[in-house]
Amino acid sequence: MNYKKLVAERIKEHVELDLETLDKLIEIPPKSDMGDYAFPCFQLSKTLRKAPNAIAEELKEKINKDNFEKIENLGPYLNFFVDKIDFTKNTIEKVLENGDKYGSSDIGTGKNITIDYSSPNIAKPFHVGHLCSTSIGNALYRILSFQGYNCIGINHLGDWGTQFGKLISAYKRWCDEEVLEKEPIKELLRIYVKFHEEAEKDTSLEDEARLHFKNLEDGCEEETKLWQRFKDLSLKEFKVVYDMLGIKFDYYTGESFYNDKMDAVIDEIDKKGLLVESNGAKVVMLDEYNMPPCIIKKADGATIYATRDLAAATYRKKTYDFYKSIYVVGSDQSLHFKQLFTTLKLMGHDWADDCKHVAFGLVRFADKKLSTRKGDVIFLEDLLNESVEKTLEVINEKNPDLENKEEVSKKIGIGAVIFTYLKNNREKDIIFDWKEILSFDGETGPYVQYSYARGKSILRRAGEVEGDIDYSKLNSKEEFELVKTLEGFQKSILYAIDKLEPYIVTRYIIDVAKGFNKFYNAHSIMNAEDEATKIARIKLVEATCQVLKNGLNLIGIETVEKM
Ligand code: ARG
Repeated sequence: MNYKKLVAERIKEHVELDLETLDKLIEIPPKSDMGDYAFPCFQLSKTLRKAPNAIAEELKEKINKDNFEKIENLGPYLNFFVDKIDFTKNTIEKVLENGDKYGSSDIGTGKNITIDYSSPNIAKPFHVGHLCSTSIGNALYRILSFQGYNCIGINHLGDWGTQFGKLISAYKRWCDEEVLEKEPIKELLRIYVKFHEEAEKDTSLEDEARLHFKNLEDGCEEETKLWQRFKDLSLKEFKVVYDMLGIKFDYYTGESFYNDKMDAVIDEIDKKGLLVESNGAKVVMLDEYNMPPCIIKKADGATIYATRDLAAATYRKKTYDFYKSIYVVGSDQSLHFKQLFTTLKLMGHDWADDCKHVAFGLVRFADKKLSTRKGDVIFLEDLLNESVEKTLEVINEKNPDLENKEEVSKKIGIGAVIFTYLKNNREKDIIFDWKEILSFDGETGPYVQYSYARGKSILRRAGEVEGDIDYSKLNSKEEFELVKTLEGFQKSILYAIDKLEPYIVTRYIIDVAKGFNKFYNAHSIMNAEDEATKIARIKLVEATCQVLKNGLNLIGIETVEKM
């Protein structure tokens, strides 16, 4: 049963507001002695020409009170206290009946959402910063799919641009084939850096690189082969990380995919009278919007990042007829996306309003004592491996006899990193601190995972539970608070979708784990007062584990049964 809906229905019997409006007005009071739901009567005051307090008082008399323990008026508010036993029974039964689907819905059915995420650059390190877009995008994909949306995950690889001319020059001059095969990105990065150093001394290198890029654009065999090789090697390395994270994409359509799709867009911009010359370049002026112009073609006729994004946006609308198009990219590209969306709007595309830039901040380190085996930047692969190693150390200390220690460490260690990235408001910088991340208490991945494993261990000991369950046994404050939290799962998911903020789900999971531990510390389960209480508590543990699992799954973290 959906109690909020029930509250709305009961009120509707007496007032002239529709269910949707009522649903929006109903609040969850900050303290439980003010009830479980509250309805403020201010809005009715105008139409009824009565004071809100008087309306609350009248409604209280008239309203049908079935399924509620009591309904009271407090000032202008009508406070609803649910029948706790009824509420507990309904919630736990609903969780257990729906299982892995608990919290899902079909509100998104028939709606396509493209999600552009991760999108690293070819021949460049896949570093710790990339996990922001990767983990947020993956979580949004899972969260939205859970509500029935049809998500299309796109990895918009940075696989085109003048840098590939430089890389080809550098390759032909300085590449060590053996190293390239073993550690491709490290070697490509080394020769790319060397190119820039050498080009300062010898400017003809730049011309050489430009020629290589031109040849690449013209489809010359040698350049195309090399570019493809760089791309394959890079992708192979990226995929190692995606596998560790358990992340998949529907399409790896990078910037190069739009090479043959840009002319049509440039034509369209021109036909609509938006294309202007400026210092030899072709641009769309955005002065009116207080933005620098959006460059479409540089003075040398080359297209840029923005041109490819214009083609990509148009292609995505045409191909997927999206309901929303999401770009999970750092906030340093905010201007780029504003220019992009404004240009699309100027082209007459109303759907530009459905394009959303989901921005995020930076990753910083509390102690820089992280191994940087591959050079200056911190490779994500190294960070994940380090987390797994450290987790294994902890497990060796705490539970040396655990089976599958390696596998458990992988799930916990990688989960701990993902959890850290998704724990706070995405615009806030992430401060990476090993001590905190891997701690078994506090608001961490391992803490939540440990709560789940603890619950599972109780369930293993309890075995199969049969017969009628007396939910009235779950009558303590801790038990009811936990049940209330479990009931709020979908609400938190919908809120996360509204804000495009996975951390709302992460916070919710933390609340469940905290609520579970409070309950666990206050009440004995296997040695409960009597058999009926024991059985009811076991059901509550079962429901809690299910919600923890579903929640972690939504943010891309796998659970372990023992740890
Ligand atoms: N490759 C870009 C970068 O690393 C991110 C691409 C984001 N997606 C897009 N459609 N522009 O900065």
